[in-house]
Amino acid sequence: MEYGKGIYLYDDKGKEYIDCAAATFNLSLGYSHQEVIEAVTQQAQNLIHITSSYMSESVGRLVEKLIEVTPKSLTKIHLKVSGGSTANEGAIKMVQHYNKKTGLISLFRSHVGQTIYTMNASGLAFRRQHFNGLSNSGITHVPPAYCYRCFYNQDKSNCNMLCVERIKDFIEYASNGNISAMILEPILGNGDNIVPPKEYFVKLRALADKYGFALIFDEIQTGIGRTGHMFASQHFGVEPDVLTIAKGLGGTGFQIAAIASREEYSEMDGHHHSFTYGSNSLAAAAGLKTLEIVSEPAFLSNVKNVGDYIMTRLKAFKLKYSFIGDVRGVGLMIGFEVNNEKGEPSLALTKEIQKTAFENGLIMRTSRYGFGNTLKIRPALIMTTKEAKKLCDILEYVLDQIQVSHA
Ligand SMILES: Cc1ncc(COP(=O)(O)O)c(C=O)c1O
Repeated sequence: MEYGKGIYLYDDKGKEYIDCAAATFNLSLGYSHQEVIEAVTQQAQNLIHITSSYMSESVGRLVEKLIEVTPKSLTKIHLKVSGGSTANEGAIKMVQHYNKKTGLISLFRSHVGQTIYTMNASGLAFRRQHFNGLSNSGITHVPPAYCYRCFYNQDKSNCNMLCVERIKDFIEYASNGNISAMILEPILGNGDNIVPPKEYFVKLRALADKYGFALIFDEIQTGIGRTGHMFASQHFGVEPDVLTIAKGLGGTGFQIAAIASREEYSEMDGHHHSFTYGSNSLAAAAGLKTLEIVSEPAFLSNVKNVGDYIMTRLKAFKLKYSFIGDVRGVGLMIGFEVNNEKGEPSLALTKEIQKTAFENGLIMRTSRYGFGNTLKIRPALIMTTKEAKKLCDILEYVLDQIQVSHA
């Protein structure tokens, strides 16, 4: 690849690709966003980096803005982290430090990071198989609210959220008996774009309060406007105790991450979780500009409208192509499953669609942490409806070709 502009990437032969993964789901404002570049260029004249022991203007302004846009009960911001994995690990440490408990609940299919601890907390064994599993102690994995292929074979119309009810059994019989927190992505990102019903979060909040553990929302993919709300927790109407932010905060690719927490969880001294490039002044300027842009109501309603357009087209594709299974998403966090004729996940067909899409100028990623059969549509949030139409037209052409070749 040679260069990127907006939602597009261009290779060394000048071929154009719509990047449906916005790089690693982190370019909320697309490639080379001009306003962010200007903010960063200006910041670079004053201060690129100082030790996070000192406050700088760009960091201070970013902290204020983050407090403004995160859910109301989250009044503290910790910026001394270097990315999503260290934000999640820091969130877990902050909660453990406060409530003096050590157990963690996490979801099957989740991806919360790649440090030893967050790898263990993530919900798929293939990541752990080659590594020392000692830090797996105290982590209990539970099935998510994956209604399309329910772990408990329930129907969501009358299951009464059995998947939350059953967590009590995991706590009683499978945990270390000392649960500090549950960490979850409100919509599973590297899993199968699983979107739980709102009721799930109501029940989960009640469970956490009953058992006295904290709810940590990993909003590293779902945050910064991805769902048409600043955070997915606002879409689902639930307040977590701690919320982690990374990826999209850098706007056009700057490395910045944060932990937002309730007051009490911030009692841990910052130096217990502090990384050299955390709260970098240059990246903070990018983060602030990104938040100013994304928090505009017109920006967020564009995400909803473009997302609705794509969902409508995908639902029509589901009727047209028998190999398309469930279509699900909120805002521009969208995924669809590819099935065989028995309705089972088809990895081979998913890969074939992915390859044909690439040949036709669409970069799409699959769901390695799930069955691998979900194709994701999570482009930069600046996408217009016209661009979304172009994306869907190319995808329809690709799916037509697949249909014909399998007739
Ligand atoms: C939901 C989620 N959490 C955590 C991480 C880890 O973030 P990082 O790669 O910045 O450490 C990722 C990265 O893909 C992610 O998608």
